Amino acid sequence: MSNNSLVSIADYSKEEILAILHSAADFEANPNRKTLDGRVIATLFFEPSTRTRLSFETAVIRLGGSIIGFSDAATSSSSKGETLNDTIHMVSCYADAIVMRHPLEGAARYAAEVSPVPIVNAGDGSNQHPSQTLLDLYSILKTQGTLENLTICLVGDLKYGRTVHSLIMAMSHFNPTFKFIAPDELKMPDEYKVFCRKNNIPFTEVNELNDNFNDADILYMTRVQKERFQDLMEYERVKNVYTLKNSMLDNTKTNLRILHPLPRVTEIDPDVDSNEKAYYFRQAQNGLYVRQAIMSKVVLG
Ligand code: CP
Repeated sequence: MSNNSLVSIADYSKEEILAILHSAADFEANPNRKTLDGRVIATLFFEPSTRTRLSFETAVIRLGGSIIGFSDAATSSSSKGETLNDTIHMVSCYADAIVMRHPLEGAARYAAEVSPVPIVNAGDGSNQHPSQTLLDLYSILKTQGTLENLTICLVGDLKYGRTVHSLIMAMSHFNPTFKFIAPDELKMPDEYKVFCRKNNIPFTEVNELNDNFNDADILYMTRVQKERFQDLMEYERVKNVYTLKNSMLDNTKTNLRILHPLPRVTEIDPDVDSNEKAYYFRQAQNGLYVRQAIMSKVVLG
């Protein structure tokens, strides 16, 4: 087992989180430092991805490292029945670190326990997506100038959304106030509400989007994730529950910024894209610098 793995955002202290954000700013200013020259990084994606895989791979290439791996598990020997344990053992013979996305909650923790090289969790089921959270924090810091004392509205699929689960845990260091906006079927799971209460984090829950975000500094929209539903009838009932439109932003705070981990489907109308409060594409670009910082820390210590 390698102690440098990043499995959950809870693996990093407040100081380590701030150090990553500081390092990301350095990479944004100078993205071509070759800190991983001669290193090989594996990206194992057992689930689809655009941003996470491509930004991790771009980050490694810009750092001077090389990439091996797969973006479709059907092309790997897991499709022949190879266990995750054996796959991780084999890939660790070839690579200095492994970035892995897997549909099963806990798969990244398991991989980190059996791997002699660091594992970076690129999303495990509905559980955690820590690199997304670090780029979300970087985006919040860049747009608000601080991480402290912010009001953050989390909207949409709060039940299965691993990005919002990780974000709550990370923001607990910075005295946030949360508003959870979700239909009953997709409410924030109790364990995260218990976490908020234990950490004295105020939160409210509402069902309607309407103008419930007018007091927010950050409006964090999420997609209703078809792939997480056991019952597709339930998905059909809630899939279009909210659509944010440009006209709904008229009475919001001037510093409001709209984040979304992407991909989006119908939850943000394209007419929002040209509003200066829309930040989701720049948020995804920030992922490159943050993942350069993460890979440098994970591989070099
Ligand atoms: N935000 C995110 O994880 O996007 P991808 O699924 O495209 O990697």
